[in-house]
Amino acid sequence: MRRPLIAGNWKLNGRRADVEERLKALRAGFREEWVEAVDMLVCPPAVFLPSCESSLKGSPIAWGSQSHAAEASGAYTGEVSASMIADFGASYAIVGHSERRALFAETDAIVAQKVNRAVAAGLTPIVCVGETLDQREAGEAETVICSQLLAALSDESGFLEAPFVVAYEPVWAIGTGKVASVADVESVLAAIRRVLKEGSESLSERTLLLYGGSVKPSNTAELCALPDLDGALVGGASLKPADFLEIMNQCFKSLSSST
Ligand code: 13P
Repeated sequence: MRRPLIAGNWKLNGRRADVEERLKALRAGFREEWVEAVDMLVCPPAVFLPSCESSLKGSPIAWGSQSHAAEASGAYTGEVSASMIADFGASYAIVGHSERRALFAETDAIVAQKVNRAVAAGLTPIVCVGETLDQREAGEAETVICSQLLAALSDESGFLEAPFVVAYEPVWAIGTGKVASVADVESVLAAIRRVLKEGSESLSERTLLLYGGSVKPSNTAELCALPDLDGALVGGASLKPADFLEIMNQCFKSLSSST
């Protein structure tokens, strides 16, 4: 049985004081009844990982990174490695977000390298896949997504044994208020599971599938009701503690009503 995960991607937002305030509010608002049922993760800009470590240590809330270097160490000015991130108690690493792919020229090959770096550092990779609007309109969504996923799975480091998360984030649904239809999400999730199964039965069984793209409290229940969905990767709404906590609550309630 996979444990659902509600993850917040804080992107390039916040200053130290707001971030620490937000962490405090999340810790205070995390309900006891969620502990055994749903995991919560926050992914702030890397400079705030020490704040996560000091504010969240000992709480049920995990923290992770938004991006890390494809290389382990060396002359790569400005980069932060997966092991440095792990040094601050992080347990997850977002890899291949569409903003990284589109704005920072992150290719499938780089994504695969980063997945390996994350796993080698003991971080669980959250690999983001998703189609643009043009690709969806051309009927290519599933082909694009499966090929992004296969590329991320082309590993050398034996990560097929490691914990793994895939986030389906249609590019056109990110920050736009537009959410993919439940039927579309369902069919993409089924395609992702098929690809994972081809890797191995156990990889498919253990991999969490998240949806991301304009997730908010009002659409969480409908999404979490999908049997193959294991949670959400939330952008904008994860910056507001009340909304993020309500997304957790909606996910928890939808689990409770399905059992
Ligand atoms: P929004 O929830 O703001 O649409 O962002 C989604 C996202 O990119 C999460 O990684």
